[in-house]
Amino acid sequence: MKNTWKNQPPAISLLRLWLGITWVYGGWNKATDSGFLSQGSPHYIGAQLTGYLTSSPIAFVLRRMIEHATLIGWGVMIGEFAIGLAILVGISMELIAFAGFGMSAILWLSATWSVKPYFLGSDTAYMVLWLALFLLVRAQRNSRKKGNFITDLKNRREVLKLAGVAGAGIVASFVGKAFKTSNPTPEAGSAITTTAKFPVGSTMNFQAADGSPAVLFRTSAGVFAYSAICTHQGCTVSYDSSQHLLICPCHGAAYDPTKSAAVVAGPAPTPLAPIKVAIKGNNIVQI
Ligand code: FES
Repeated sequence: MKNTWKNQPPAISLLRLWLGITWVYGGWNKATDSGFLSQGSPHYIGAQLTGYLTSSPIAFVLRRMIEHATLIGWGVMIGEFAIGLAILVGISMELIAFAGFGMSAILWLSATWSVKPYFLGSDTAYMVLWLALFLLVRAQRNSRKKGNFITDLKNRREVLKLAGVAGAGIVASFVGKAFKTSNPTPEAGSAITTTAKFPVGSTMNFQAADGSPAVLFRTSAGVFAYSAICTHQGCTVSYDSSQHLLICPCHGAAYDPTKSAAVVAGPAPTPLAPIKVAIKGNNIVQI
């Protein structure tokens, strides 16, 4: 294979190295996270997408993606590996830099849109880095008068190489699964919060002892909690304080927390699962 690292400006080398390593690490990080593709985990890609709904300007797209969250998760993981590997090896760099720019733009519009000031979120910086690499590679190619990134897709050898890195991304994702790290979960009996921090009338999300997302309530009658996993197709529900209901963002199921999480709207077949909690001393604990 042609050594693409020779005779390239140092700026391109630096960008390729940093972006390539970061994207491969991004894929590895997801592949080895035992919760990333596991419904019910707070790290679950579907739970992450649900969390972005309230602030993202592309919430209407994310809402559709949540239904296929596991598939999207595989796509993101393999895509990150493939983009990182392609840029390190030097395959269709103009096209890959554009794909990296697109991926960073989607992450910005979903995950870091609400970060203020904007420079504290990394996705805008990655958009600029990918765009700079795209323009540098393009200028280099223009100086050699050698096609453009669309012509890459008409070249069978380039397409085969791209398929090769996608295949390597799939293999790397499965290898990562063999090195899965488990996420620490709170033990039953450990404090969720204290009564002082959680007065009557409060609501909060917490991680149940099995690692799944849950919602805690405190009323004058005491404390109670439910699993936040929708009984329809497993999206994560959240409490809407204006409606006083737990709402699922995927297909609109609504549960009434004051009536044992009974379904009051939408396609959910059964109430949310209750989680046993109690006040012990100054703490609120799962029992
Ligand atoms: S997953 Fe369909 S309504 Fe919640």
